[in-house]
Amino acid sequence: MNLKLSLFLFCFMAVFTGCGKDQPYAPQENPQEDSQEEAQTQVKDAKVLVAFFSFTGTTKSAATKLAGLNDGTLYLIEPETPYGSENSNHYDKSTRAYQEQYGPASVRPAIKKTLKDADGCDIVLLGFPVWYGKAPRVVFSFLDSYSFKGKTVVPFITSGSTGISSAASELKSAYPDLSWKTGDRLNDKSTEQLKSWLESLGIKVK
Ligand SMILES: Cc1cc2nc3c(=O)[nH]c(=O)nc-3n(C[C@H](O)[C@H](O)[C@H](O)COP(=O)(O)O)c2cc1C
Repeated sequence: MNLKLSLFLFCFMAVFTGCGKDQPYAPQENPQEDSQEEAQTQVKDAKVLVAFFSFTGTTKSAATKLAGLNDGTLYLIEPETPYGSENSNHYDKSTRAYQEQYGPASVRPAIKKTLKDADGCDIVLLGFPVWYGKAPRVVFSFLDSYSFKGKTVVPFITSGSTGISSAASELKSAYPDLSWKTGDRLNDKSTEQLKSWLESLGIKVK
């Protein structure tokens, strides 16, 4: 064997066996699968908090079903002063709901702070009706009142027709420290659809 051929063979072996140095790119045992499995296990065992605000009961109904499907804790976000029935008139600019939604973004109506063990949950399903395209300000009051930093938060809405995207992106930019997941509009979803939605979030259903 001549010198050139010997050199070539040596380099070939060195590269493909990784000999003579650390192996930074040495294949691990399916690292991606491992981490996926770990993430799934974490979420499957997750303690779910279903926190919601509801004015006329539609969101409450969706929230109650969700909590029932995964043994989650159901929690009503309750304003200190309830919204009167006059707020149902969307066209009346003098209502409290209208004034709050179109007022400064810093508006935070007082809520009852009765949630126990906010720290104990791993994932928050955050439900609310869409008010003038956005989340009602009491939802912001709720997020300000407890520390969900680093926790997964998944918004869900009910609405006349508006989708979730504007409300979700406003929340996401107001609370960038939370780990937001894409939410959904849950009007009229069947139990099977709600189960699939929870499963798509990695939440174990009963
Ligand atoms: C003050 C107010 C504003 C609303 N704004 C919207 C809106 O912008 N888009 C929409 O599709 N529905 C809107 N709705 C309808 C509610 O989002 C819808 O009826 C919702 O399902 C009610 O949920 P709840 O029963 O949990 O309060 C509004 C309702 C109220 C009372």
